[in-house]
Formats: sequence, structure tokens, C-alpha cells
Amino acid sequence: MIIIKNGTIVTESESYCSDIMIENNKISCIGTNLSNDNAEIIDALGMYIIPGAVDVHTHMDLQSGNSRSIDDFYTGTVAAVCGGTTSIVDHVAFGPKNCALRHQIDEYHKLANGKAVIDYGFHGVVQHVNDEVLSEMESLAKEGISSFKIYMTYDFKLDDVSILKVLKKAKELGVIIAVHAENNDVINYLRENYVSNGCLETIYHAKSRPDHCEAEAISRVLHLAALAGDAPIYIVHISTEKGLDEIRKARAQGQKNIFSETCTQYLTMTEQKYLEQDNNGLKYVMSPPLRQSNDIDALWKGVQDGAINIIATDHCSFNLKGDKQKGINDFTKCPNGAPGVAERVRVIFSEGVMKKKISINRFVELLCTNPAKIYGLYPKKGSLIPGGDADITIINPNSEYTLTRSMLHGAVDYTCFEGMTLKGDIDIVIQSGKVAYKNNKFLGKKGDGKFIKRKVIG
Ligand code: URP
Ligand code: ZN
Ligand code: ZN
Repeated sequence: MIIIKNGTIVTESESYCSDIMIENNKISCIGTNLSNDNAEIIDALGMYIIPGAVDVHTHMDLQSGNSRSIDDFYTGTVAAVCGGTTSIVDHVAFGPKNCALRHQIDEYHKLANGKAVIDYGFHGVVQHVNDEVLSEMESLAKEGISSFKIYMTYDFKLDDVSILKVLKKAKELGVIIAVHAENNDVINYLRENYVSNGCLETIYHAKSRPDHCEAEAISRVLHLAALAGDAPIYIVHISTEKGLDEIRKARAQGQKNIFSETCTQYLTMTEQKYLEQDNNGLKYVMSPPLRQSNDIDALWKGVQDGAINIIATDHCSFNLKGDKQKGINDFTKCPNGAPGVAERVRVIFSEGVMKKKISINRFVELLCTNPAKIYGLYPKKGSLIPGGDADITIINPNSEYTLTRSMLHGAVDYTCFEGMTLKGDIDIVIQSGKVAYKNNKFLGKKGDGKFIKRKVIG
């Protein structure tokens, strides 16, 4: 048994001083002056106590072309829990051409089981559409896979009719479709042009994926979702003002069931990063790319006014040495993706809450409660209530420090946020009723994480 005393409990709607009692893996009681002779006492005076954060956009152990991401479900979830995140919903990689929808889910159960240190779920990936795939969506939803990802770019992108079929099925089942929205043909055309003109430096990764490509694809898929009867749709990693404007426009016209995500990196860095010396710009090669300062401002506005529902990470870590460096002479050879699961809570707390862009309650809503609600984990996750899972992050707002790779716990050899001055640090993380992080040390156990059978939203 654990009792956390003297801290400020923060939920998406209120902040108040109270004690929390944890028994087994659940919160058993919230109240004042809680005591028990057998309890381990955690003194949280001056600290914020928030629900363990939920990251609904990670890619652990991802095979992408001839590179495999460096964080598997062990190192990636160690990085997560030491960064205040106690559950993830991972986007599974593409499988072999024409494979069954279940193929990759079966593979990912094998990859995560016995390794993950925090609870996890999976988004299925729809890489082609036929009657079998559509009916597998139904059977998998019954097994707790209540969301599916589609791509409008990359090798297994779906055409518009396939997207429409998936969205109609999603509407019928009440599952949610997460979409990577970028205009594939235009990007390929621009990339080929840059490459044939010898424009191979890292900055051309950004130049070949302009904001119009994101906005056009978001607009198109939102129209398809409307055609499918306002099918539940979730746009992942929105990076541009123009893209977010499409979300605002569709909602203003009355379209329902639209959910939106941005990620830490799009709120904090511009494409100037691609110009860093010594090929360090390769660290930030991800799709969509980093953008301009007007985009950062627009995304923060969306975070503040509710246009953005979730801040996630798109954690997809490749080592700089050896992996990202494949792009030294040609940006198209650099594996796409960057780490972020260890940094999100710290960076957004500092940039958002401490710089007074958002309240601490909105912070909890964006990183904990909304992800749990939208993806069928609530109220076991994303809340602090008696009966809920004892997944808790304690934040010390008085700590000020410079973030470096050496403080983080994953396998990857760099952080995009190296040298950033942060205010507010993670003090203790409790995962499933046990202290999993304290004094900058991982204290959990390999395999402690369990698969979460997620609910269908409605
Ligand atoms: O560059 C990225 N984001 N890689 C991971 C896959 C994706 O597009 O989300
Ligand atoms: Zn993506
Ligand atoms: Zn992703």
C-alpha cells in the first residue's frame, strides 16, 4: 500500500489538495488525513499529482525499409515511464503485401508481451481494402483493437475509394480511424525534382513536403469522413496552420466526430533545425517535417482553444549514428522518425504550463485524459478516481535544468531537445501501483506492462 500525501491533485477540470491511497494496482481512496500503519508514505509537498500520461502515437520496434527503430517495447516503454507516460497505444508497422489485418496485431503481441513495462494497446493498420479486411475490423475491435490507422502517403497508402470504405465501416462499428494525411503524389513529384536537380541536403526533406500537401490531404479525408456519415476520424501529427484550419473549417460547418493531434516537436522547433552543422539536421527528419514559426503559433492557439485534442509524440527512434546518418549525402535515404516519448511530459509542462500558455488542467486534458477518452481507455487510464488504475505521475514544478540525452532512459543516442532549459521535472512515477521511476532511476520490471483491451467509443 502507498499513500501520497500533501500534494496537489490535478485533473482535467480541477486542482485540489488531498491524499491518495493506492492498494494493489488501483487507487483505493482519495481524501484528507489518510493513514495506515502498513503504508509507504510519499510526501508530495509542493508537487503536482497527475494521472499517468497516455501517449497514443508511438512506433516501437518499427521496421521501416531497411532500418528498424532502436527502441523495442522494453527500452521504449522504459523511456516512456521515466518520462511520466504510463500507457501507450502503438501504431503497428506495415506487414507483408496483402497480409490479413490480424497479421500485424499477432506480430505486435509477440513483440510487446513480456517486454513492455507499462500497459499498451495497438492501432491496427489498414494497408489494403477488401471484404475480408473490412470484416476483420469488426473481429479485431471485439479483441480490443478499437482504432485503425490509414496512410495517405508511403508505400501502402490507400486510394480515396478504399479510404471511404474504411470510414463507412468505422462509422458502422464505432471505431476510430487515425490518418496520416499528406498528398503522396505531389510529395513524390517534388522529391524527384529536388533529387534530379542535386538538391540532396537535409533541408529538402522539408521543402519536398510543403504545408499545402498536409492541408489538402486533411481537407480531402475530412470530406470523405463527412460522406461516410461523419465517421469518427483522428488526424495524427498535425504540423501546419493550414492543416489545422481545415479541421476548424469542417467543424464550423457542423461535421462531427473529428479529433486532432499535434506532437511536441511541432510545438517547439522550426525547419531551421535541418540546417544544423555536421549533419545534425538529420536528427529531425520526420514526416511531416518541422515547419515555420507561424505554424508553431497556430498550433499553440489550437492547443489553447480546443481545436487540438491531444499532444502525442510520434516516437519513432532511429540512432543518429549509423541509421539517420544514412541520409548524409541524400535526405531520401534517412529513415523517417524521431524520438519523443521520454521528453513530451517535461517539454510540454515547461513550454506550456510554466510559460503560461496553458493551465495545468488543460495540460492534463491534452496529455492524459483526452487520449484515454478518445481511444477507449477512460476512466481506468487518464483519470485520478477511486477504482481507477494506479498510474500516477508526480511533477516538481520548482526544478530547473538543462535537458540532455544522458538524463533519458531509452536506447536512442540523441534527443531533439538537447540543451533546452526546462522548468518542472518528473519526480516519481507510479505504474500499476508500484513506483517505477524515482531519483532519475527506472525501478520497474521488464514484462510488467499488460495489453489493454480498448473499448469501442460508440
Ligand atoms: O516520420 C515519421 N513520422 N515516422 C513514423 C511514421 C509516421 O509517419 O507516423
Ligand atoms: Zn505518420
Ligand atoms: Zn507515426
